[in-house]
Amino acid sequence: MNFISMNLVTMLYLIASVCFIQALKGLSSPATARQGNAFGMTGMAIAFVTTIALILKLKAEAAAAAGASGGMGLGLVVLGVVVGGGIGAVLAKKVEMTKMPELVAAMHSLIGLAAVCIAVAAVSEPHAFGIAAVGEALPTGNRIELFIGTFVGAITFSGSVIAFGKLSGKYKFRLFQGAPVNFAGQHLLNLILAIVMIALGLAFVVADGNQPAWLPFLIMTAIAFVLGVLIIIPIGGADMPVVVSMLNSYSGWAAAGIGFSLNNAMLIIAGSLVGSSGAILSYIMCKAMNRSFFNVILGGFGGAPAEAGGGKQEQRPVKSGSADDAAFIMANAESVIIVPGYGLAVARAQHALKELVEKLTHAGVNVRYAIHPVAGRMPGHMNVLLAEAEVPYDQVFEMEDINSEFGQADVALILGANDVVNPAAKDPKSPIAGMPILEAYKAKSIIVNKRSMASGYAGLDNELFYQPNTMMVFGDAKKVIEDMVKAVE
Ligand code: TAP
Repeated sequence: MNFISMNLVTMLYLIASVCFIQALKGLSSPATARQGNAFGMTGMAIAFVTTIALILKLKAEAAAAAGASGGMGLGLVVLGVVVGGGIGAVLAKKVEMTKMPELVAAMHSLIGLAAVCIAVAAVSEPHAFGIAAVGEALPTGNRIELFIGTFVGAITFSGSVIAFGKLSGKYKFRLFQGAPVNFAGQHLLNLILAIVMIALGLAFVVADGNQPAWLPFLIMTAIAFVLGVLIIIPIGGADMPVVVSMLNSYSGWAAAGIGFSLNNAMLIIAGSLVGSSGAILSYIMCKAMNRSFFNVILGGFGGAPAEAGGGKQEQRPVKSGSADDAAFIMANAESVIIVPGYGLAVARAQHALKELVEKLTHAGVNVRYAIHPVAGRMPGHMNVLLAEAEVPYDQVFEMEDINSEFGQADVALILGANDVVNPAAKDPKSPIAGMPILEAYKAKSIIVNKRSMASGYAGLDNELFYQPNTMMVFGDAKKVIEDMVKAVE
């Protein structure tokens, strides 16, 4: 199996890396996201086929050197690809958009587990990975890489399993409940476990002898699994998207660590891209919620939505109207800015919304969509939702581009959004003080659709709903928008 040379492997890995960078670039805008995905798939296919060819070449060379002609183990690899790829394809096809974060969490858990399995295999049989000759001790550098890759992978695995449980909300198990799990001395316990884990890792690294120091290595791995659980349980279910993005970053670093051990440039590059993009995404999400990264990680926020922000439900009168009233106001407006939020995704009303916008545009109204970076429950949630309904990209504006337009807009139509338009963010005493918001409160008329006066994710009352120029249209977003479409017709 010598049809592939090391030079060709390096070149193909380089091409795959360029594809991954192009994929990230493409995914940064809805207009180029499909192209980005195509690049990502191409890069992964190249990386995968090249790696298989490389493994077969190395195995054949090792067998020839030993004068043996052992099996290639290709059957097992193909089986893994068919089973894993099949499950992935079915899940990705079936998953609802609002369930995407939990699917991502489940996938990260597998990346973490894969990193741990590879590390255990490399410690057990370093010669099979070309790290050390048979009977020789693992070089110190490799031990450090394997230690880091293992503990990061183990934390990623168990942390992602907890994040998956919290996001799915389907399981009765206490640790899978959305509400934070807190107990006295939690952070101290985590600190002690982290110190013991690092000490055992160092014991593994500096141990003498040709046999690996299994005991410290295995205890260190077990502690890392426990730490993954303990780090995630105090974080509320609603903060899980930030956590998933952070675990995404960890899984990338774990893969990069293992890439160093295996001397595989592809794994190092792909792992670093995942690690750094996940970290940047976590930072962007925290910034858009005006929360610090440590505030999220130390937990206690975003459990049960109604209690999370400590906000009380006020019983004040609001002006309410029907879908027909709202349609009449919009059809007579010159410009309308639509703010989609989590409720629109829950109601799956994006197709009805697109129809409404087409009707209004046909009637001569200038309609635009305003997207808040953390509207919904995952990064880019609203962009994906609107793209699903094939809303033209030139109608969709990011917060910083559209905020100055609300003051001139005749109508701001808020659909299933709450926190992202809450003027309480301007109040320094509010729990969401400083969170950047879409300034819908500046529009001449405001129409808000939601089912009740219940609060949003932050658990806060919204002053916008009580403004004299605000009209509430109560009901499920899909039904309300369909009624608006009929009324505009
Ligand atoms: P929210 O503030 O959560 O408000 C959504 C509103 O939708 C609720 O007030 C709810 O009111 C309404 N709703 C629910 N189902 C509905 C339906 N079927 N029809 C009509 N309305 C419905 O959402 P948002 O404004 O999009 O803000 C997102 C929040 O999530 C922010 O606080 C953000 O910080 C947080 N968060 C976001 C992310 C990311 S990355 N996107 C990550 C973590 C946290 P009713 O129950 O009265 O209908």
